[in-house]
Amino acid sequence: MAALLQAATIALALGLAAVPGASADQTTVIDAKSNLGTWEGWGTSLAWWAVAFGTRDDLADAFFTTKTVTVAGKPLPGLGFNIARYNVGASSKNTYNGTKMAVSPKMIASRQVEGFWTDWASASPSSSSWNWGVDSAQRAMLAKARDRGANVLELFSNSPMWWMCANHNPSGSDSGTADNLQSWNYGQHAVYMATVAKYAADNWNVKFQSVNPFNEPSADWWKAGTGTQEGCHFEVNTQATVIGNLRKELDSRGLSGTIISASDESYYDQAVTAFSKLGSTALGQVARINVHGYQYASGKRDTLYSLVSKTGKKLWQSEYGEGDATGERMVSNMLLDLRWLKPTAWVYWQALDGGGWGLIDADNGAKSIASVNQKYWVLAQFSRHIRPGMKILDGGSDYSVAAYDASAKKLVVVAVNWGSAQYLNFDLSKFSTPGVDKAVVKRWVTQIGSSGTRYAAYSDTNISGKKFWSKFEKNAVQTFEVSGVVL
Ligand SMILES: *[C@@H]1O[C@H](CO)[C@@H](O)[C@H](O)[C@H]1NC(C)=O
Ligand SMILES: *[C@@H]1O[C@H](CO)[C@@H](O)[C@H](O)[C@H]1NC(C)=O
Repeated sequence: MAALLQAATIALALGLAAVPGASADQTTVIDAKSNLGTWEGWGTSLAWWAVAFGTRDDLADAFFTTKTVTVAGKPLPGLGFNIARYNVGASSKNTYNGTKMAVSPKMIASRQVEGFWTDWASASPSSSSWNWGVDSAQRAMLAKARDRGANVLELFSNSPMWWMCANHNPSGSDSGTADNLQSWNYGQHAVYMATVAKYAADNWNVKFQSVNPFNEPSADWWKAGTGTQEGCHFEVNTQATVIGNLRKELDSRGLSGTIISASDESYYDQAVTAFSKLGSTALGQVARINVHGYQYASGKRDTLYSLVSKTGKKLWQSEYGEGDATGERMVSNMLLDLRWLKPTAWVYWQALDGGGWGLIDADNGAKSIASVNQKYWVLAQFSRHIRPGMKILDGGSDYSVAAYDASAKKLVVVAVNWGSAQYLNFDLSKFSTPGVDKAVVKRWVTQIGSSGTRYAAYSDTNISGKKFWSKFEKNAVQTFEVSGVVL
């Protein structure tokens, strides 16, 4: 902000210390020449929340449209997700040939997702070994997402069907560090995933873009004794075998255009290791690397990006979540992702959940919705503005990200002020046309925290020459849309 800048300059010239209470303003230069990839979208995994709430149109509207929708008594700006990840289940309650599923003592019932292939008698999807009637609520949300324009759909597995597992427990092996998929079922898990993908195309009008047969496979916490959800450890060489089998099974069903994504490791560093050990054959069959964000502020995001980008494969932040309802941790990790991991999609884990994990606070077991977490509006600042097809630019600092819409000549900047209240300046001098002088820059504000401003819109900021600026409260996130910008 010009006046403040002048004051600071005078203070410096006179050798004075900064005036107490007056904050320095900062300028970030948006790098018009950078290209961090073409954005594919934002999304959520379905799984437990959709098993609980999948028939609700209001929730489908809130996540998969940009309309205003009332949920839990609050008018919400729709988040405009276009990605949905469908979790094919691993559980079934039947007994077959005297055998039934083993259930961990701590299993949370709402996290048991019913699977379609209930016994090993037949691989034919029209046989009685398959029950296509299960998991109707999650399938309903998948269809609602598609009907509202979600055009990037992924099929993923947390564990193979229980009967494929060594201990018949889809929460994990006894040790957590040993594979739980029996070696004679390496092919069956691939048959399961491919059969569901094919059935969805033929019967649900759902064309999965990708199939991911693993979830956090290198983790050591998928254990029968302590498991609270479905999960399965896979050694990297087992992953490679299953990937090869899956490619074969998809191809033989006419799904050669369906890509395989892998391995949805928990940590950036595990993804680096798995990527390095997978081997050229399996790696050649994986079109996209999916990684989760559970290493939070740690981990070598840049190493993973550099490895993956050299191969021309896509890279997604395919799952992120934590228990901070304020949005603070989410934003700080998302900014790290966009700057260092450079994913082309960013997918939240459970849109509804308890303990601060949900965008909307809910109990998936009791099927009750409590309130909307501030993190919902924080995410809206990004997902409603950085849209599929935009080019992600280097925002010029660790507190800002930028995206460019070439056809609309629109620049989007999202920035966060972690410090005391101050003006942040955005320098557009690297653009050949930095917008129209004096034109309005639209902006939206959300206060990170337990309450405060929620996605409030303003038209009180103008371009001034080659820059614009705005006052930020501490821990405020603001989104700007600048028209008439040419790279
Ligand atoms: C059923 O169980 C018996 C006894 O364990 C076993 O010998 C047989 O092979 C099983 N049949 C099938 C179809 O799994
Ligand atoms: C900002 O833009 C609006 C709309 O074009 C205009 O009315 C107003 O005068 C501008 N303000 C400044 C300071 O340029």
